[in-house]
Amino acid sequence: MPAVSFTDLGLPASLVRVLAARDITVPTPIQAATLADTIAGRDVLGRGRTGSGKTYAFLLPLVARLAASKSRSKSRVPRALILAPTRELVGQIESALKPLAKVAGLSSVSIFGGVSQQPQVRALRSGVDILIATPGRLEDLIEQRHCSLGNIEITVLDEADHMSDLGFLPPVKRLLEQTPQRGQRMLFSATLDARVGVLVKQFLHNPVTHEADSNEPATSATTHHVLQVEHEQRLPVLADLTSAPGQRLVFTRTKHRAKALTRQLNAEGVHAVELHGDLSQNVRARNLQAFHAGRVKTLVATDIAARGIHVDDIAMVVHADPPVEHKAYVHRSGRTGRAGKTGTVITLSTGGQLRDLRALTRAAGITPITTRIDTLADPILVELAPGERVRTPPAGGSVTSASAVAGGRPDRRRPQPKSEPSARSSKRHNAPRTSKGRSTRTHSAAQFSARARTS
Ligand SMILES: Nc1ncnc2c1ncn2[C@@H]1O[C@H](COP(=O)(O)OP(=O)(O)OP(=O)(O)O)[C@@H](O)[C@H]1O
Ligand SMILES: [Mg+2]
Repeated sequence: MPAVSFTDLGLPASLVRVLAARDITVPTPIQAATLADTIAGRDVLGRGRTGSGKTYAFLLPLVARLAASKSRSKSRVPRALILAPTRELVGQIESALKPLAKVAGLSSVSIFGGVSQQPQVRALRSGVDILIATPGRLEDLIEQRHCSLGNIEITVLDEADHMSDLGFLPPVKRLLEQTPQRGQRMLFSATLDARVGVLVKQFLHNPVTHEADSNEPATSATTHHVLQVEHEQRLPVLADLTSAPGQRLVFTRTKHRAKALTRQLNAEGVHAVELHGDLSQNVRARNLQAFHAGRVKTLVATDIAARGIHVDDIAMVVHADPPVEHKAYVHRSGRTGRAGKTGTVITLSTGGQLRDLRALTRAAGITPITTRIDTLADPILVELAPGERVRTPPAGGSVTSASAVAGGRPDRRRPQPKSEPSARSSKRHNAPRTSKGRSTRTHSAAQFSARARTS
């Protein structure tokens, strides 16, 4: 039987064309399950795997319904509200929305903190149809009377279970209370659970629940591994994995750890940037952009990047610190294996952490393969992260700890002449890299193995 099409589900031809221009022609399971109801204006709870297209599942009906609605007025007050937990996710949703909104003649604004509010206020003054916001800044702007939610017809909560967590619930409730009672509400997440009950009870009317792919683990296109390492082996193992080809996202539990690990990886010759709440918004945006563009292959992040963030072709997610709970495991891991692609998830764990980790992966519906790593010669490292290891020595530094733990001799690299560009300078990252280039050092997996065997 041919798959149901976007047109069959009631999507206007103008939006179908926008999708087709992006090679999006067949609805994903969560889109196929929800679109008919959402386009008809029903309240919907939608759960679909990470990377399964939930963003379009709420954006398409939102745009289709606003475009068809008779309420469009000259003054252009906001008629739809999308709430999301992080500034990065707000920006990403707006990027997906823009082309759809454009053909429908609708305007939007992203509202989030950490940047000047003036451009946001100016956009609101000039009139917008769709708000995409984090709760904090939106409340600020409403308090200052720059914005009102009195004409909102459609409200979306992306990552709805997270938006129902203690930290978010009070502002989210206050915002929903300001929207007209009979408006349409859509709640989406890969881990939609009982946590949303409070919001459902108070704000949804006769909602229909759709769970797509519910018989598969949340991230089934992905293989899951646990590498059991001694505490002091964590960095060398991580440096080995992250110096292989491809892009990877490394998660830590705290901002402090993200910062420290980024520094340590760079000292190991692995160019990495960080993403966490201690950075200014400019730096957050710059680092994520560098990762998006592929200029930097390793991003070290806190759970700020765990939910919703989509970067094409992340081959591997590494939990450098095991997450605190199973939902964090699902969302972090879901940054790879998206949109039908495959991915590898690796959790580094000490022996003492294994028990908790097992309980956590079980709760996530995952049975990872556990391997104990005693040396960097272990073939599992190349199996999980295939390819030649490439490292770029930092200016004046040496790349020693991997070899030290592997039992190899301390690094004997020739010190860099002063005239060479600093290995930390941003120019370097634009320069083409070759495995034989002056500022680039390569280790083949075999070399690492040979080093390790000397121990
Ligand atoms: N019908 C489709 N066909 C092909 N690709 C699609 C389709 N719908 C969405 N995509 C693409 O899939 C990718 C992942 O989509 P999206 O970010 O919406 O996933 P998600 O379900 O929200 O994941 P998460 O739970 O991590 O937030 C995006 O690059 C998007 O453009
Ligand atoms: Mg999403």
